[in-house]
Amino acid sequence: MSVDAAAQPVDAAAQEELAGRGLRLGLVGASDRAGLDAWAQAVRRGFLDVRGSSDALGARHELRGHHRHVGVWDTTVAEPATPVGTLESWTSALTVPGGTAVPAWAISGVTVAPTHRRRGIARNLLGSELRTAKAAGLPMAMLTVSEATIYGRFGFAPSAMAADLEVDTGRARWTGPETTGRTQLVEPDTLRDGAEQVLDRVRRATPGNIVMGEVFLRRMLGTLGETAGDTHSRAWRHLRHDDADGTPQGFAVYRLVEDDRDMSRSTVVLHHLVAATDEAYAALWRTLLEMDLVSRVTAHLRPVDEPLGWMVGDRRAIRTTTFDHLWTRILDVPAALEARTYETSGRVVLEVDDPLGVAGGTFALEADASGVAQVSVTEAPADVRLGVDALAALHLGGVRAHTLATAGRVQGDVAVLDALMATARAPYLDHWF
Ligand SMILES: CC(C)(COP(=O)(O)OP(=O)(O)OC[C@H]1O[C@@H](n2cnc3c(N)ncnc32)[C@H](O)[C@@H]1OP(=O)(O)O)[C@@H](O)C(=O)NCCC(=O)NCCS
Repeated sequence: MSVDAAAQPVDAAAQEELAGRGLRLGLVGASDRAGLDAWAQAVRRGFLDVRGSSDALGARHELRGHHRHVGVWDTTVAEPATPVGTLESWTSALTVPGGTAVPAWAISGVTVAPTHRRRGIARNLLGSELRTAKAAGLPMAMLTVSEATIYGRFGFAPSAMAADLEVDTGRARWTGPETTGRTQLVEPDTLRDGAEQVLDRVRRATPGNIVMGEVFLRRMLGTLGETAGDTHSRAWRHLRHDDADGTPQGFAVYRLVEDDRDMSRSTVVLHHLVAATDEAYAALWRTLLEMDLVSRVTAHLRPVDEPLGWMVGDRRAIRTTTFDHLWTRILDVPAALEARTYETSGRVVLEVDDPLGVAGGTFALEADASGVAQVSVTEAPADVRLGVDALAALHLGGVRAHTLATAGRVQGDVAVLDALMATARAPYLDHWF
C-alpha cells in the first residue's frame, strides 16, 4: 500500500473546532517555499532551536518538502504567516514480529507556540492526523517523542525501548568470539552503498524498525551537510566490517572526544553501530573497545537486548540506562494484529477501549500452529480488556501481557495473550524521527 500523506485533506472535525476559536487548520504545499520556510521556522522555535538560514531551510525542504506539513494559524497575531502549531507526517513501513512491514503514518515536528499552549491545539492536530491516517487506510501511526507524558492520551504507547551504554574500556576486556573478515575505516561516501544495504537487511529482520528516508540516512551517516544544520559531522568517523568475501556486513559511526588533561583518556561517542551478522557485530564492538588512547565508550540508542555484556570479562564495566523510544498507535486492530506472527497457537477475545473512538471494539484473535492469525469483530465475551495504548505496547513484543496485567493496564485472564504475544527478540528502532 502506498499512500501519499501530503495529498490527504485535513480532518473536517478538527478544522471546525479550531475555527470556532479563531484558528485555521491547514496544509502547506510542497511548492509553497515561503509557507514551508515559515512552517520550518515555527518548528525550530518550538524545539528551542535557533532560526534557520535560508540555505538550511532550502536544504531541509529538498529532503522533506514532499512530506505532509500541517499548520495551525492565528490570523490575529502580528506575523500571521507563521503557524502557531505544526505537525509533519509521512508514510513509512514498520517491521512487526514475523518480518512483515506494516504501512505506518509517521508523525514528527509537533509543536505549539509558547503563547498558544494548552488550548487544545496539539489535541486537534493529533486527532486530525489519526483520523486522516485511518481514513487513508493506515493500520498504525508512530512517533518518537520529546517527553513521555504527552502521547498516551492519544492512544500511543512506548512499544520499543532503547538503552544508553557507558563502557569503561579499561575494565571490559574482550572475551567475545574471534572474527574473520576485515574491519576498516572509510569515508562516508565509501560507506554509503554498503550501509544502505546493511540497514535494509537489518530493518527487515528487526521488529520496531522502520523504512528510513533519505534525510534520516544522511543524518545517521553524518552527511546531511552544514547547510542542513549539521555542523558536527566533520568529526565523525566511520568503520565498516566486510565479511571474508568482501561484502559489507556492518558499520559504526562515532566521534572522539579528547580529555584535555590526559591524552590516554579519550571517549568514543558511538552514534550508530548496525550489524547484519553476528560476526560484524562482534568485530565492530571489539574495534571500538580496544582503541588506543580511549578509556570510555558511550553509546546512545542501543537495543535493550544488546549481547555485548556477554562478550566482555567484566560486565560491570558496562552501565546501561533504558528509556522509551518508539511509540506506536493502532488505528485498525484486525490489520495490525494480523500483520504480525505469533509464537504459539491459541484464541483470545480482546475488548479494546479507544477513548478517541478510532479503533476500539471487541475482537477475536485466533492464531494457528504456523503463527498466522485471523482477527475479527466478535460479540463473544472478552477474555481480556485493555486500552488501545496497552495493545500497541504488546503488539511489537516489547512488554509481556502479564507485566501489563500486574501494572493494572490489562484486565482479565492474560495467560493465552501472554504466550501469544511474547517474542524472541526485543523490538528496536535505531534512529529518532
Ligand atoms: C507538547 C505540545 C505540542 C503540546 O501542545 P498544546 O497545544 O499545549 O497541547 P494541548 O493544549 O492540546 O494539550 C492536550 C493535552 O495534553 C496535555 N499536555 C500538553 N503538553 C504536555 C506536556 N508537555 N506534558 C504533559 N502533558 C501535556 C495537556 O495538559 C492536555 O491534557 P488534557 O487532555 O488532560 O487536557 C507543546 O507543549 C510543545 O510545543 N512543546 C514543545 C515541543 C515538543 O516537545 N513537542 C512534542 C514533540 S514529540
